[in-house]
Amino acid sequence: QQAEQSVLYQAYELSAKWYHHILKNMAQGRDAMNYLRSRGFTDKWIDFFQIGFAPPMWDRLAAFLEKRQFSLPLMDKGGLVTARTEGGGYYDKFRDRIIFPITDFKGRVIAFAGRAMGDAQPKYLNSPETMLFNKSRSLYNFHHARPNIRKQQSVVLFEGYVDVIKAWGAGVNNGVATMGTALTEEHANLIRKNAEQAIVCYDGDSAGQAAAFKSIPILQKANMHVKIAMMPPGIDPDEFIAAYGGDRFQHEIIDGAVPAVKFKLLYARKNFNLADSANWPQYINTAVKLIAELETPVEREHYISELAAEFRYSPESIRQQLNEERQIFL
Ligand code: UTP
Ligand code: MN
Ligand code: MN
Ligand code: MN
Ligand code: MN
Repeated sequence: QQAEQSVLYQAYELSAKWYHHILKNMAQGRDAMNYLRSRGFTDKWIDFFQIGFAPPMWDRLAAFLEKRQFSLPLMDKGGLVTARTEGGGYYDKFRDRIIFPITDFKGRVIAFAGRAMGDAQPKYLNSPETMLFNKSRSLYNFHHARPNIRKQQSVVLFEGYVDVIKAWGAGVNNGVATMGTALTEEHANLIRKNAEQAIVCYDGDSAGQAAAFKSIPILQKANMHVKIAMMPPGIDPDEFIAAYGGDRFQHEIIDGAVPAVKFKLLYARKNFNLADSANWPQYINTAVKLIAELETPVEREHYISELAAEFRYSPESIRQQLNEERQIFL
């Protein structure tokens, strides 16, 4: 087991170099390189994140690893190749995909994410869980970001690899992402060991916003202070940076992240047609429940005033409703 693990680390490291070499230096990698350039990836970040390309052939990596004396059954166990169901032999797991190496907290490559260049499905193919790779404990870019996360006592959580890389290029150097899975308690505990605050910066589509909403209790349970970065509707961080630049991303989106309760108050609006004032009391009801969970009277008062001003109710009436709510709640 130990011996297999150490061979697998070597195989992943070598494969990452091989994919990177193909992207940078081989004719086969040219389209992939153009694709990355068209999406604003510079050589500097392609090298730093060791991005690569898996050629569209069936067994080039398998042949390469075999030539280097790696056992293909072990490579199969490690998720790099797959045994053919007929005829024997092994074929590559990743073909015709941009390769993002995933590293552990020591910077060792433990898995790959492969992005299709065209419309091939799935958009991202991730390595399976192996003796090196546990998805619910791994965070993309954690190795690079950790010193910055500690220094700033703050982490930015993204949905995608590309978001992390683009944000890094824009100077947001404390960003990480989960790997095609939702945030787990294990992720949250890992983050909490390094920072007090988490800024959730997921995509501005409904899936991203729903995931952001679900991440809040998980992070709070780990005792983190949670903020949400509000993306414009339908836009993800990578698209925002491409459209408006890294400066605006940093100063408007990241610095402008709102407290979790503020996000929940905004998010709850989706369920009410507030154009019709007849629905206001129902929304206020929901909002009051959210505000009631806040710990300090000053915080509660802040959102009471905000609600009162917006909907033109008296702060007293909202405060009274809140006190009734807190009696139930406490
Ligand atoms: P998105 O679906 O938001 O990617 O996936 P995108 O923004 O359109 O495309 P790119 O990345 O900018 O090219 C966000 C993350 O969700 C996971 C991956 O971790 C990805 O980075 N994902 C997405 C998968 O694991 N599998 C998929 O098929 C799609
Ligand atoms: Mn390089
Ligand atoms: Mn998304
Ligand atoms: Mn996205
Ligand atoms: Mn994107």
